[in-house]
Amino acid sequence: MNNPNVRDYIRTIADFPHEGIMFRDVTTLFADARGFRMAIDQLLHPYAGVRIDKVVGLEARGFILGGAVAHQMSTGFVPVRKKGKLPGPVISEAYQLEYGEAVMEIHDDALKAGERVLIVDDLLATGGTAEAGIALCRRLGAEVIGCAFVIDLPELGGRARLEAMGMPVHTLCAFDGD
Ligand code: PRP
Ligand code: MG
Repeated sequence: MNNPNVRDYIRTIADFPHEGIMFRDVTTLFADARGFRMAIDQLLHPYAGVRIDKVVGLEARGFILGGAVAHQMSTGFVPVRKKGKLPGPVISEAYQLEYGEAVMEIHDDALKAGERVLIVDDLLATGGTAEAGIALCRRLGAEVIGCAFVIDLPELGGRARLEAMGMPVHTLCAFDGD
């Protein structure tokens, strides 16, 4: 590839996890040294000179990206996990899935009031997961200064939903229908 961009490293798997879904697979991006570094560098880019105290990663692929972003920014990293995975006292937020509901959790002492947080995940679809993450951070008194994703699926409305909340959204590439 000449001058590849982040999008070129993302593989699409048709009909996963069920028929009709085009799954955007970032494992091929993560596995490539040049692609992974490019993704981390581009996720960080808008925040040069911006004070960030903690990076919050959303389970599961947000841990891989958020850990690398936090290391590069020399901040701490805080996981937001699916219900029942964190060992200490937690606060919880329910959010809508395509079918039914899920719950995300954060340790109740993971962020201090006034800390400035960047939320990181692999993909923005409906925005429900990110909105739950934002709510958890805010309930601990932190200030979420932005959300950064590798992939935007604009047809699913997540960016519009988060921007309507006044949340700055940074994405590296977009996919529509096919
Ligand atoms: C996917 C993706 C985002 C979320 C986006 O995670 O990694 O976290 O969906 O969807 P939304 O914007 O509609 O909320 P998934 O729930 O599949 O879980 P995983 O990351 O643990 O595999
Ligand atoms: Mg996820």
